[in-house]
Amino acid sequence: MNDKTVLITGCSSGIGLCCAEGLQARGYRVFATARKPEDVRMLKEKGFEVHRLDIADSTSIGEAVEAVLDATGGKLYGLFNNAGFGQPGAVEDLRREVIREQFETNVFGTLELTNRVLPVMRGQGEGRIIINSSILGFAAMPYRGAYNASKYALEGLADTLRLELVGSGVYVSLVEPGPISSRFRDNAYAMYLKNIEPETSCHREKYQDLEARLLKQGPAVPFTLGPEAVLKRVIHALEAKRPQARYYVTFPTYLFGYLKRVLPTSWMDELLRRVE
Ligand SMILES: NC(=O)c1ccc[n+]([C@@H]2O[C@H](COP(=O)([O-])OP(=O)(O)OC[C@H]3O[C@@H](n4cnc5c(N)ncnc54)[C@H](OP(=O)(O)O)[C@@H]3O)[C@@H](O)[C@H]2O)c1
Repeated sequence: MNDKTVLITGCSSGIGLCCAEGLQARGYRVFATARKPEDVRMLKEKGFEVHRLDIADSTSIGEAVEAVLDATGGKLYGLFNNAGFGQPGAVEDLRREVIREQFETNVFGTLELTNRVLPVMRGQGEGRIIINSSILGFAAMPYRGAYNASKYALEGLADTLRLELVGSGVYVSLVEPGPISSRFRDNAYAMYLKNIEPETSCHREKYQDLEARLLKQGPAVPFTLGPEAVLKRVIHALEAKRPQARYYVTFPTYLFGYLKRVLPTSWMDELLRRVE
């Protein structure tokens, strides 16, 4: 048990909610955040200290950080950058504003929030930044270009930040889950309906497969794990003396991580282009 403080983004469902519950049960003082009022209410009812936080909105980031630091007397041990969504669609069908929306949340929001809390952690001489990346942060798969690009961007920022934090007592870790059961596909389907026009696309036939995958009940692919598998890695990243730079979570992540290291790009492409 411990009394360390952790701020988590995207706690309305899935991995964020599971980690908020798991860390609270472990004795952490958890600041659970969500962007919708009904989710803020739901989290309060579960007994969390809650703040509204939409990471696509700089004002919201500023207000949430200020409120958390007010409550803790200016301290924060851990930040789990979990919030994010997947924008499906072929690269050719991504309008500029669509990929901007993807980056506003997954990349720019994550970076801005991280940069808001880093001075606090540097001042304390300790802290843990955890970033929820993906298997798609190192392996590109068809019709996931916007999401792939956003997670690759996070990997680049985290890899650089890690070098710049040496000696500060602050560590940054990436979590690379692979398939985890959550509301991810429901939310991705909503973004597909909002931003992609399949009828006018040269990929319209492929979009039927994509829709079927997003709408499938139960796990979409084999080796899907529950969000508790991510919680385990988050606990390690918070508690290990020397946290890992990367945490693989599911079998597909270990497999593709290995294959990416040993196979030439053309062989990887043969494999990856078959992924629906
Ligand atoms: N599930 C997987 O297979 C998987 C695999 C690899 C990586 N991940 C990553 O894991 C993270 C959590 O996803 P999940 O699987 O738990 O899916 P999820 O159930 O859809 O949860 C996503 C969370 O992010 C929140 N969110 C989205 N945009 C936000 C914004 N602008 N500001 C604040 N919160 C925002 C959502 O809030 P709303 O309810 O308001 O939309 C929700 O709480 C994401 O970063 C995702 O990329 C998931």
